This record gives sequence, C-alpha cells and structure tokens, in this order.
Amino acid sequence: MDYQAHFLHAIDQTKKEARYRIFRELLRNHEFPKTKLIEDNSARDITLWCGVDYLGLSQHPILKKAMVRAVEDFGVGSGGTRNIGGNIHQHVLLERALAKLHQQEAALLFTSGYVANEATLKTLGHLVPGITFVSDQENHMSIIEGIRGSGGHKVIFAHNDLADLESKLAALALDAPKMIVFESVYSMSGTIAPVKEIIALAKKYQALTYIDEVHALAVYGAHGGGISELTGTAPDIDIIQGTLSKGFGLSGGYIAGNSQIIDALRLNANGFIFTTSLPPQISITALVALDLDLPPLQQQLFEVVTYLKTELIKAGLKILPSDSHIIPLWIGDATLCASASKRLLDEFAIYIQPINYPTVRRGEERFRISPTARHTLNDARQLLEALKICLL
Ligand SMILES: Cc1ncc(COP(=O)(O)O)c(C=O)c1O
Repeated sequence: MDYQAHFLHAIDQTKKEARYRIFRELLRNHEFPKTKLIEDNSARDITLWCGVDYLGLSQHPILKKAMVRAVEDFGVGSGGTRNIGGNIHQHVLLERALAKLHQQEAALLFTSGYVANEATLKTLGHLVPGITFVSDQENHMSIIEGIRGSGGHKVIFAHNDLADLESKLAALALDAPKMIVFESVYSMSGTIAPVKEIIALAKKYQALTYIDEVHALAVYGAHGGGISELTGTAPDIDIIQGTLSKGFGLSGGYIAGNSQIIDALRLNANGFIFTTSLPPQISITALVALDLDLPPLQQQLFEVVTYLKTELIKAGLKILPSDSHIIPLWIGDATLCASASKRLLDEFAIYIQPINYPTVRRGEERFRISPTARHTLNDARQLLEALKICLL
C-alpha cells in the first residue's frame, strides 16, 4: 500500500477546497493584542483579532505573579493522575471554588474543555443506558464526539429553536432518559441560547440539562459565571461545563453539578482517570483569577464590541446577528475568506484566521472577530478601515 499517497491526497483535498490551514506562528507577550508574527525567520508586529483571551487575563499582572510564585513554591508538574498521587490540594480547592461559582454542589477538573465535554458525555451514555442526547445543531466538536462515543441515542434540534426542541422532546417517551445538550454562547455565530426556556422545556419533558459555558465564562456575570449566572439559572441546570482556557486566560476544563453526578463521573470518566492532572500552578492561578474584579474588564470589552458591531453594519459589511461579544463577519466563500485574511495580514498587519470547513459548513466561511478588553477603540478603527478595503 502506498501510505504516502493517502496522506498527500488528504492534504491536496484541503488545498483544492481552499481550506488548507496555515498555522500562524505567534509570539504573544505583555503587549497583547499586539503580537509578533514569526515568518521566514523574522518577526513583525501585528494585531490579533481572533483569539479567545477575551478579557486579556493571560497577561494579567496579578495572575502572572501568582503563577510564578506557585511554580517556585510547588514545582512545575503535578506528578500523577488524580487517582494515583496527583490529587493536588489546590485542584480540590479550585473544584470547590468552581462549584460555588456555578451554585452547584461539586465540580471536577479535566485537562481541557474539550476533554471535559468528550469524557463527560461519553461516560453519561454508559452510566444511563438508553439515554437520548437532544443536542443543538451548532454544538462544538467536543460535544459531538462525546455523544458519538457514548453509545446513547442522538437527536439534533435546529439551532436555538425552542419549537423544534419541544417537538423533538415530545417525540420521546416521557419517562425515557434524556438530556438536552447546548452551549450558552456559540462561538462561531455569537448567538446566545434561551437558557430559561430550555430549562422550562427540560422540566416539562423530564430531561436533564447540560450547558457548555466555555465562551461565556469570565465575560458574563458579576463573578464571571457566564450566561447561567447572568440569567440566574445556574442552580436549575444539571451539568455546567466550562474551561479555564478562554475568558480566564489559562488552560484546563471542568464540569459542575450535584454531588452524585460529579462523583459518578469522577469514578467512571476515562478522560478524567487515565491522565496526569493539571500542573498545580494552573489551579493556584485560576483561584486568583476567580477573585478578580471582572466587571470593569467586561465593560471595556463591550465598549469595543458595540463600537465595531455598529460601525461594521454602517459600513455595509455583513455581520451575522450576534447577541454576544463575538462578531461573525460573513464571507460565504472559502477562497475569498483565505485571500482576504492574507491581505489583512500582509497589508494591514491584522491577523484574523479564516474560519472554514469543518469548523463551519462549506459555503458558510466567515471571519470570527473577537475583540478583547485590551483592544482600544483606535485598534477597532484601524480594523474597520482595513476590512472596508479588503471586503467592499
Ligand atoms: C464550545 C466549546 N466547547 C469546548 C471547547 C474546548 O475548550 P478547550 O479549549 O478548553 O479545550 C471549545 C474550544 O474552542 C469550544 O469552542
């Protein structure tokens, strides 16, 4: 067998579809969102507009100090799995703090948000035989993969469509086990789920609820607890999944829920059991991040978001109707998306990664503009002018 030919064919296919991905090499430092781009062995200054460090916490001086101190005090690694020698005290403390943040009884840390989703959903399928996952059409790949590996049934409902969700729930036996799985802020469209209404439907049809708050954490709610904090719905949700890697600027994922659910998952989720636990400095720094005064940073972020949304619409650029801090700018063509991204970088030192298949469906290519609390209105004005030139 010509293995090489298979790999080359796979690569060529992405090139033919104009979705061959260039992984830009970045040197992020305290100047973020100003960033250095490494190209051809040299570095040049660019402005990054496509990250997920929404509040700029990855560069927060208090967090940097906390992490350096933690490394000096506790070393660089955890030295074991949670089960065997790696159940670091600070992980336990962080789990308590995350449970409190989400008004839940307990929480469980994972090495990433992806692993948290995949391992939890997969394990739930084994813990609750015959369960049906009623899953939003736009759910993230980690959710899709978790459900796929769960052995459970899957029913997809149209994105944020309560009528469709209800019809899918009504078609299942009332006493059959089921779970509605959805995100609070959808990262590729910026839409926000109708959380209260989904919970009401879950009660009516005796379903469990699972919310992915990954893109809302730190950005919404006085304590950064996301849309469930903002809407006062956290205690009514069965499992809240989150990450420390986006708004909180760190790394690592988790779930929060009642003690029985969390204990059952702790004892059965392979993605939790069979991997070395996070390094202690992550939990120590996350504990400090949870105590930061976030609303002023949230306000700074939304000042830039509001300005950009208003001005992009005024300029006649097509942004999708986002209710959140994420601004999806519609391109609808893979080649144009790639070439406009290249032009922004080459001519205007602005980095926005083209979003293409499989992250979004073919023909739905877009720029996912994500302002942060560290972008200024002047940065936003420069972006706007560059986008007008490249796209109008
Ligand atoms: C909706 C959603 N859930 C989960 C994840 C995974 O989170 P992490 O980056 O912490 O693995 C992502 C990552 O982009 C995401 O967009």
